[in-house]
Amino acid sequence: MSRSAPLSGSGLTFKIHHFSRVSSTQSLAREFLDRGAEMGTVVVADEQDLGRGRRGRCWLSPLGGLYASVLLPAELLLPLRLGIAVASTLERLGIPATLKWPNDVLVRERKIAGILIEVVEETAIVGIGVNLQAIPVAGATSVAEEGFRAVDRDEFLDWVLTNLPCDGPERLLGRYRELSCTVGRIVRMEEEGDQPGPNRVLVGRACGVDASGRLLVEASGRVHTVAAGDCTHLVHETDARGLILDARTFGD
Ligand code: BTN
Repeated sequence: MSRSAPLSGSGLTFKIHHFSRVSSTQSLAREFLDRGAEMGTVVVADEQDLGRGRRGRCWLSPLGGLYASVLLPAELLLPLRLGIAVASTLERLGIPATLKWPNDVLVRERKIAGILIEVVEETAIVGIGVNLQAIPVAGATSVAEEGFRAVDRDEFLDWVLTNLPCDGPERLLGRYRELSCTVGRIVRMEEEGDQPGPNRVLVGRACGVDASGRLLVEASGRVHTVAAGDCTHLVHETDARGLILDARTFGD
């Protein structure tokens, strides 16, 4: 089954292909791309057998959630645009969502949605997973648990697509900073390096996001720029000068 939805402002029309059960919408969207599918192609599934998360993790994808992959022009700030679109859709329902850098969507510090971006030349395959119903994953929440049991998946997806901000970098970053629950926090960053070998681990205060969407982390007396990696919010104790004495993972 397929249907179309125009995206206001972007010049793209989304062509939505619906499947009941797939391995991963990311893999299927890649097949569409290899067969010449256009930008704006969307693959949606009711459930996934092998849903993929960031950094090789799996994404539990039972019936009742939103699982979609979209072909979009690759762009530096696309991860932030997607995070804003999902968070704004939740806000529209009355759910106060925030963004953990770069684009984990959280409600009350629990993950409600995740975004995976895989780039093939000029095209980004953007995977969007939203827990519409409760799932048995520690530290997760869902739209249903936040009080909205009867949200229509297709309507939610249309809202995400039509809320994809087309703003230039300045406005976009302003909105991103408003939604960020990382900036100002003590974080543990496991940086994804370009080189093989152990990742660099950094503990410090997230102090901003630069014009390229990279996270700025103040640690050991200087500001480090992190382009990609895993970010954990820490709870911490500081001494009278504000120096970190002890830091634990949120929820420990
Ligand atoms: C994350 O780790 O936070 C990203 C999760 C992305 C999950 C979505 S669900 C639709 C698409 N298909 C996949 O296999 N993964 C993404």
